[in-house]
Amino acid sequence: MKRVLTYGTFDLLHIGHINLLRRAKELGDYLIVGLSTDSFNEIKKKESYHSFENRKVILESIKFVDKVIPENTWEQKVEDVQKLKIDLFVMGDDWKGHFDFLKEYCEVIYLPRTKGVSTTKIKTDIDEK
Ligand code: CTP
Repeated sequence: MKRVLTYGTFDLLHIGHINLLRRAKELGDYLIVGLSTDSFNEIKKKESYHSFENRKVILESIKFVDKVIPENTWEQKVEDVQKLKIDLFVMGDDWKGHFDFLKEYCEVIYLPRTKGVSTTKIKTDIDEK
């Protein structure tokens, strides 16, 4: 049973998120998503449209996602990897290199982002209409 972990805000779900989650799940058997809480989003200078509770319900409804846990801090990753017995850590390649320190604990893979879409772009595009 290969256990995979990824993190993100996953607000205004789009095809880039689904591609990332599908590919992450295909690389293993059990996918856990660390979902940024609203207070962690503030630290990241992000404001999500959907609340943490609703983003969690939405993510849990996706067939590739087996479990959603809160992401509260930048520092929790090593502990999560150990506690959840993670074999593979996956992130989009906008984060390339950032989490290489986890290679001491598990495999680390950065997947290519889907081009031309992001939550920020959706918000901007709708604003401009
Ligand atoms: N992601 C992706 N392709 C995209 C957008 C996001 O593969 N076009 C991936 C990110 O690399 C990350 C995960 O989806 O691993 C969650 O990203 P998140 O930051 O929640 O989504 P964005 O759409 O990038 O959000 P924002 O515009 O607010 O930064």
